[in-house]
Amino acid sequence: MLSTLPRLIGHRGAKENAPENTLASIREAARQGARWVELDVMLSRDQRPVIIHDDTLDRTTSGTGPVPLRDVADLRALDAGTWFDAKFAGEPLPTLEEAVALIDALGLGLNLEIKPYPGQEVATATVALETLRALWPAGRPLMFSSFEIPCLEVARSLWPEIPRGYLIWEEPEDWAAIADRVGAATFNVNHEWQTPETIAAYRATGRAVLAYTVNEAERAKTLFDWGVAAIFTDAPGRLESELSGSSV
Ligand code: G3P
Ligand code: MG
Repeated sequence: MLSTLPRLIGHRGAKENAPENTLASIREAARQGARWVELDVMLSRDQRPVIIHDDTLDRTTSGTGPVPLRDVADLRALDAGTWFDAKFAGEPLPTLEEAVALIDALGLGLNLEIKPYPGQEVATATVALETLRALWPAGRPLMFSSFEIPCLEVARSLWPEIPRGYLIWEEPEDWAAIADRVGAATFNVNHEWQTPETIAAYRATGRAVLAYTVNEAERAKTLFDWGVAAIFTDAPGRLESELSGSSV
């Protein structure tokens, strides 16, 4: 699965140019040449997996309030595009099933970040995995990731053969033990706090390092030089062309 990991992964699709975590954003990532996208999944009130980053609807949709207070049918009716640009008016908040169908049609790989509303860690991971398991096309690249250890533990127990990325914001002291416990294949780390030494320490455990969220080519190049395998970027097309140019 990770053998096909590209060096650039479209963050929430291609969020520099399209409303994050929408079908339009996935399409835009593919149009820019991205081979994988990263999306965030959360549960609706009726326990359906939907693609959204925040705990609340306010920033990225026409709705308000916590995501888990609305059924999927209500969430589907919201406008998740206008806040970004009027040309995306009417863009729906997608379900996981819709996102997967598009990802398959476009031939992309997926890093699904399990992003539970607080307190819903086990349920979110369980539903997301069971949903994906029923429809994920055999052989299409897939990995899970989460900041939440219970989500990674669920993923390990329900679908162990799919690689898990241990997402780290502030590194806990026992990061290596946690990675062992959840059977992490990768460390997915905040790029801002990395140094050559931190990357080397992660890699010394035998795991690849992925860094988020990097939108500047010079920083991307530095991270690659330090041994980072892949970065999450809001602008996969722009970054690829800047990295291919000779100026960085
Ligand atoms: O998976 C990388 C990155 O998406 C983690 O942070 O907050 O953008 O979901 P966030
Ligand atoms: Mg994410």
